[in-house]
Amino acid sequence: MEIVELTKAKSLKGEITPPPDKSISHRAIMFASIADGKSIVKNFLRAEDPISTMNAFRMMGIEIEEKAGNELVIHGKGLYGLREPFDVIDCGNSGTTARLISGILSGNPFFSVLTGDDSLKQRPMARVINPLKEMGADISARSSDKYLPMAIKGKGLKAINYNMPVASAQVKSCLILAGLYADGTTIIIEPQKSRDHTERMLRAMGAEIEVEGLTIKVKGEGSRVKGLQPIDITIPSDFSSAAFFIAGALIVPDSEILIRNVCINPTRTGLLDVIKNMGGDVRIENMRDISGEPVAGMYCKSAGSLKAVKIGADIMPSLIDEFPILCVLATQADGVTEIRGAEELRVKESDRIKAMATELKKLGVELEEYPDGIAIKGKASLKGNVVESYHDHRIAMSLAIAALVAEGTTTINNPSCVDISFPGFFEELKRIMR
Ligand code: S3P
Repeated sequence: MEIVELTKAKSLKGEITPPPDKSISHRAIMFASIADGKSIVKNFLRAEDPISTMNAFRMMGIEIEEKAGNELVIHGKGLYGLREPFDVIDCGNSGTTARLISGILSGNPFFSVLTGDDSLKQRPMARVINPLKEMGADISARSSDKYLPMAIKGKGLKAINYNMPVASAQVKSCLILAGLYADGTTIIIEPQKSRDHTERMLRAMGAEIEVEGLTIKVKGEGSRVKGLQPIDITIPSDFSSAAFFIAGALIVPDSEILIRNVCINPTRTGLLDVIKNMGGDVRIENMRDISGEPVAGMYCKSAGSLKAVKIGADIMPSLIDEFPILCVLATQADGVTEIRGAEELRVKESDRIKAMATELKKLGVELEEYPDGIAIKGKASLKGNVVESYHDHRIAMSLAIAALVAEGTTTINNPSCVDISFPGFFEELKRIMR
């Protein structure tokens, strides 16, 4: 079994440019593939998840050229230009691939089957299958239409009005994509605002999408004459990857780091609001627009002391992927930090509530696990131990940051899952450790 060993850091110093945004990388491939003509995608995330998306579209006949410097040239074939895949599409570990593609496939007149790895095969798919069926899609999936593998026979779709039961950008994006193929205007209402990269990118490509508060209206094929225009985009760094270094700088004494070129789309940066309430200091510098997304540098330094906070369901969608690293921050804050309304974390790449509760306990943290969250008592003195990644990239990276403030050596089992979103994570971390 492979392992990584980390010891306590004196400080974190220097500059870092985290890898390109994973969510935007997936969307760039998908939307460019169904656009009319040649798109250019610069700074694509060459990591396992977006590569699953790239392979899927190649299987459906899309030519994707890989140039130097992580640039892709994607030869889009229009909304109806995809070809029936010759084999089962393997989405690997990627929920975004499986859920977003199902919206596109439902409107395309051919047969396809989606599957994934052992983690993805246990993640809920009824959340996309049910509304897609309401739109008229012909889908069957394992265990009474709940899990992958799922088989789709694409056909004409009808527009629906849909009140989403859970805040999920993947479900919303799936339905927006299906909405492009539907006859009429599809109306989707979110319970809370989730990441809006799909809306931004598709609108820039000429899709008729209106957003008003939590309501999204998508005009489909039936009422629209033109397809999607190709794009030329540059993908900024992923806030969710930056988050590990932000947290590291806050909790390791004498740290001072500059994180460059990060997408600070407000639907993603809930962690910054929480950090502010904890008394942490993250300065946003040089804010600008890159390809329709707000981008900035983040100057982060050690907090000295942090205080505990209470957070609930309202803020959860804007820090959904930051739950594990927020748990690590909580161990170093004075008082009991309570994170509730986080039941979605039970159905991520792993059960992230259980994973963090189990592993932080091994490092000596006092905590209580709830069905919908966790309460963590700080400030804890962490002691190095052997911990598990659960083959979940964000668990592995969060535990690595915890290791920086733990006495002795922390051994992380099965750390290579970081390649899902952040190849080279441990090398980057070691580069800025003093
Ligand atoms: C994502 C949406 C979120 C997030 C995931 C990426 C996306 O999932 O956790 O890492 O790219 O749309 P949910 O839609 O399940 O909340």
